[in-house]
Amino acid sequence: MSYPTINYIGNKEKIVSWIISLIPKDVTSIFDVFCGGCSVGYAAKQKGFTVYTNDILTINYYIGKALIENESISLGKDDVDRIFHGEPFEGFMFENYANKFYFPEECMQLDLYRKNILQFENEYKRALAFILMRRAMIRKMPYSRFTIRWDKICQLRDEQYSYEHYKRPRSYHNKSFRFHFEDNMDEYNSSIFSNKKHNKAYNLDVFDAIQTVDADVIYLDPPYAGTMNDYFGFYGLLDSYINGRQTVPFENNFMDRKTIVEQFDKLFSSLSKFKYWMLSYNSRSKPAKDELLSIISKYASSVEVYEMPYAYKVTGKEKKNKDVEYLFIARSKSYGK
Ligand SMILES: C[S@@+](CC[C@H](N)C(=O)[O-])C[C@H]1O[C@@H](n2cnc3c(N)ncnc32)[C@H](O)[C@@H]1O
Repeated sequence: MSYPTINYIGNKEKIVSWIISLIPKDVTSIFDVFCGGCSVGYAAKQKGFTVYTNDILTINYYIGKALIENESISLGKDDVDRIFHGEPFEGFMFENYANKFYFPEECMQLDLYRKNILQFENEYKRALAFILMRRAMIRKMPYSRFTIRWDKICQLRDEQYSYEHYKRPRSYHNKSFRFHFEDNMDEYNSSIFSNKKHNKAYNLDVFDAIQTVDADVIYLDPPYAGTMNDYFGFYGLLDSYINGRQTVPFENNFMDRKTIVEQFDKLFSSLSKFKYWMLSYNSRSKPAKDELLSIISKYASSVEVYEMPYAYKVTGKEKKNKDVEYLFIARSKSYGK
C-alpha cells in the first residue's frame, strides 16, 4: 500500500519515516490533530498504530475518512458513471465562483458532480469521491491553491501564453474534471487498506478535538507562523464546494506571529491527558526553538528536540538544506518522569 498523490502544502511526506521512527516505543495509538493531507496518519496506519485524524477543513476530514478510517470501500466504473451523469446546472459554484476560480461551464459541472456525489449512501464512497474531485480541481488550478487572482488563472490556463513565458503549456489545467478524476482513481483505490484497528477521522477545531479524542501520543503539525501558512486561503474553496456554503476563516489559525506564543501556551496547557506530545516546527518560523522549549517545559516532565535539514519547495525551485525541521517530543507531567 502506498500513500497516493495528495500534494498538500506543508505535508510531511519527505520526513515521515523519520517522524514515525521517533514515536516512543510504548505507544499504540496516535492522534494526528492537524492532519492536512494525512501523510503522517497514513504512515502510522501502515505501521499498525490505531490512528485518529483531525482537521478544521472538511476536505481534510474526508482525506482521513477515505484513506485512514476506510478499510475496504473503493470506487468502480459504475460509480464514476453516476458521478458524471446528467446535465450541468447553475448552482452554488456557478453563482459564487464563476470567473473567480473556474470558467462558468466548469462551475456548472462541479454543481452537478456535487449533487451526484451526495447521493451515494455509503459515507466512504462519498469521501473518496470528494477527495478525487479535490485532486481534479487542484490539477486544474495554477499553483494548486485557491489564492490566485482570476486574471492570473486565465493567463496561466492560456496554453500558448504559458508556453511562451514559462516553457510549460500547462495543458493539464484544461483537461476535464472527469479526466483527472479517472486518472487518479486507481492510485487512490489501491491505497485503501485495513490495519485491523478502529481508526477514526474528525473535523473539529484543535481545542475541541483534544477534548474528544484519547490516544497515547498527540502529533501536532500546525501551520508554521511566519511561513506560507494560509490554509483557509489555499483550500477553503474546496470546503465551500463540499458544504455548499462559503467557508469562514478559522478562529484559532496559528498563523499570526503576534498571537502565536499565546496560542501555543494555551495548546500545551491543554494536553495533559496525552502521555506524549510530538510537535513539528521549523527554524524559519516563530516562536524560535528556545522559546518553544520553554513553553513546552512549563507543562511537560521532559522534552527533547530532534533536528533534520529540510529541502522545501517554493514554486518549483528547490532551496536545499537552508532550514532545519524540528521534532519536539515531550512527556506529559501527569505521567511523571
Ligand atoms: C502544516 S498543515 C498539516 C500538514 C500535514 N501534516 C500533512 O502531512 O499533510 C496544518 C493543518 O492545520 C490545519 N488547521 C489550522 N488551524 C486549525 C485548527 N484551529 N484546528 C484544526 N486544524 C487546523 C490546517 O487546515 C492544515 O491542514
